[in-house]
Amino acid sequence: MKIIVLMGGDSAEREVSLVSGDQIARALTANGHEVIKIDPSATKDEQTALNATEEHWIGIQYPEFDFLPLHRGSLYLKNLLIIKRLKPDLVFIALHGGKGENGIVQGMLDAADIPYTGSGRLASTLAMEKDISKFFFRKANLPVPRGQVLDRPQASRRYLKKITFPQVVKPNDQGSTIGLSIVDNPKDMEKAIGLAFRYSSKVIVEEYIAGREVTVAILKQRPFPVVEIRPKHGLYDYECKYKEGMSAYQVPAELDETVTHKLQQLALKAHTVLGCRGYSRVDFRLDENNQPFILEVNTLPGMTGTSLVPKAAGAAGMNFNSLVETIVEEALKK
Ligand SMILES: Nc1ncnc2c1ncn2[C@@H]1O[C@H](COP(=O)(O)OP(=O)(O)OP(=O)(O)O)[C@@H](O)[C@H]1O
Ligand SMILES: [Mg+2]
Repeated sequence: MKIIVLMGGDSAEREVSLVSGDQIARALTANGHEVIKIDPSATKDEQTALNATEEHWIGIQYPEFDFLPLHRGSLYLKNLLIIKRLKPDLVFIALHGGKGENGIVQGMLDAADIPYTGSGRLASTLAMEKDISKFFFRKANLPVPRGQVLDRPQASRRYLKKITFPQVVKPNDQGSTIGLSIVDNPKDMEKAIGLAFRYSSKVIVEEYIAGREVTVAILKQRPFPVVEIRPKHGLYDYECKYKEGMSAYQVPAELDETVTHKLQQLALKAHTVLGCRGYSRVDFRLDENNQPFILEVNTLPGMTGTSLVPKAAGAAGMNFNSLVETIVEEALKK
């Protein structure tokens, strides 16, 4: 098949996406497909350079807005026309965050009648907006941390007076722990809210769930084994997510059968409630009594060397190449 791998883009997770894209492209080639890599925010010459390398890497610093190709929005449209002209059998979306994960790219591909991997445009939007996903989770009786969403820095002063600490402050629609703070006392609140608003027009303030960090990947409406993450920093931050050796992982997680089963059922339900397709990864915190709380559903989870979905698949006996191939097969069933 002729498959275009969409990677890069202009989101804060651009670097991560370039690495996911390299890995996916390599797997697709190994599986016998014809592969073309396209960065929706790149010029024609840059596409040539992109296809000449698989040497992308992720810096350990949180990405700076100044270095993102944010002025290149119109290239998304130009590149869509190029994709259409290349007549691919499928587009494999290896983008993370921003327009690539929030339904915009999915909508563009829908408009052009080009099939693509993973969730459709509506599920992508619902999953990206953490406040909207939480609304759906609550309706379905799925456990989420208690919190509030702010639409401007001064909003909900009264609510902020009532809360106990620690609290988590995070942008409503970012990934990779970008713009997120754990706040231990009221005087640090303003700074954390200001930081989160740099990345999003809405900010979530929610209770900090002290305990363990686990995630469950879904493929073909089935949950993989639970992965437990033990980051070297207190927080599973950007560096712990992408720098080799900065987190320890346990797959399957050491949990009794009831908790494992519960996590897998909750993950599948969260995936289904939002209408996700193909694959996703559902992030949880377990409190001190191993009670799970859903943090979010990632519709385009990382596919890098340190990423969690490939680890979970590996524990179920599925290597990276067959994971990628299964995602392709699922997409063509649409
Ligand atoms: N309510 C919470 N309680 C405890 N820790 C939290 C909470 N919310 C977020 N965190 C921590 O911050 C990390 C990132 O949070 P979350 O998964 O909500 O955002 P993200 O940046 O979108 O992540 P991803 O890279 O998975 O897309 C979590 O993995 C967890 O370590
Ligand atoms: Mg997460």
